[in-house]
Amino acid sequence: MEKIVVNGGNKLHGSVKISGAKNAAVAIIPAVVLSDGVCRIENIPNIQDVNLIAEILHKMGAKISRINKTTLEIDPRGIREPVAAYDLVRHMRASSYLMGALLGKFLRAEVALPGGCDFGVRPVDQHLKGFGILGATHNVEGGMIKIKADRLVGNHIYLDVVSVGATVNVMLAAVKAEGRTTIENAAKEPHIVDLANFLNSMGADVRGAGTDVIKINGVKSLRGTTYSIIPDQIEAGTYMAAVACAGGNVLIENVIPKHLESITAKLREMGVKIEEYDDSVRVIREGRLRRCNVKTMPHPGFPTDMQPQIAAILATADGTSIVNEAVWDNRFKYVEELRRMGAVISVDGKLAVIEGVDHLEGAPVKATDLRAGAAMIIAALGAKGTTRIEDIRHIERGYEDVVEKFASIGADIKRVYTNDGATRTA
Ligand code: UD1
Repeated sequence: MEKIVVNGGNKLHGSVKISGAKNAAVAIIPAVVLSDGVCRIENIPNIQDVNLIAEILHKMGAKISRINKTTLEIDPRGIREPVAAYDLVRHMRASSYLMGALLGKFLRAEVALPGGCDFGVRPVDQHLKGFGILGATHNVEGGMIKIKADRLVGNHIYLDVVSVGATVNVMLAAVKAEGRTTIENAAKEPHIVDLANFLNSMGADVRGAGTDVIKINGVKSLRGTTYSIIPDQIEAGTYMAAVACAGGNVLIENVIPKHLESITAKLREMGVKIEEYDDSVRVIREGRLRRCNVKTMPHPGFPTDMQPQIAAILATADGTSIVNEAVWDNRFKYVEELRRMGAVISVDGKLAVIEGVDHLEGAPVKATDLRAGAAMIIAALGAKGTTRIEDIRHIERGYEDVVEKFASIGADIKRVYTNDGATRTA
């Protein structure tokens, strides 16, 4: 079994470079299916989720060449059958984007119901509603969602909830539909804008991404392109939170400071000093942090994907903080793990009340999902003693070289392999 072992107490110093955005990459790679030519995608993070979605396309018939660690060239022209079976997609939520991409390309898609992080029910009703309004029908058979249309015709789609996934899927299905599609109450996350820019670089006509109304004028065909993915907002926020927890002074490079505003604002409220530059931010933390309240919201609100990490810091802030999870029903599973380290947190539905303690103590803990795993690392960096984190596969789904990057800024962190009681480090 693989674990991450952290000896807490080191302050963090130096600089760390943020990778390309996971949530943009997992939308843009399936979008390549829509192209009639080869797409070269740069600044791809080298993480499990991305490798998995690329492998799914490969198994469906696409030709994938890795040009270097962060660049993939994908030729989707070998994909003949719009079918993504359960074995391929079960571990990955974002494989649901194949529904929109395959439907847009082939007017037919058969995709197994998605998996991904477990934080409550993860419905796709809004995705299917969007496809329906464009002219598709669907049914569920043997765990597969089967969607088909004789033709897709642009229309008005009002999303009942602000959903990243539904916005992406409708964009993918509409980009080659006949006429104009308008998505109202669309998600505004940076990765939605990145996907729109990618589609436009292939010849699509998508306008308004980043606002809550996206207009898509359907085009007949899309060509190959070269495109570079934006930096990962959540990876950047995670390193910012780590410095806030452990203390120190770190330059976080390859970021878009505008995407980090909600995180920066909360950390400043807690007493962290943040200097913003063109494509980097410097995070400095001295002295004890102050309490604050946090409510997660769709972009530009505070991201739910930073909620566990901010809770990990608030666990030792001065005073009592309230964290309100307003996006997902069940995203506090990790609290149990923080309690093992001495955190005093009570959870009631979507609210967590965190009474800041003087310090946390190292303990054996689990990464209950991707961002929860990041929160364990953050808590461990600021804790006294040794924390052993299990189930780190969740962390590796979304953080490139996480151990190496933290070690490079002074953390005492290593990956440990245990095999029948024997332990070796790497
Ligand atoms: C994406 C992110 C995930 C993040 C989430 C919210 C990716 C690959 N994943 O997930 O990390 O936590 O956005 O920022 O980008 N909902 C419905 N019906 C639907 C779809 C969603 O009711 O058809 C609800 C969900 O239950 C949830 C809310 O809408 O309460 C937001 O979900 P959504 O934005 O769709 O999340 P994902 O796209 O799955």
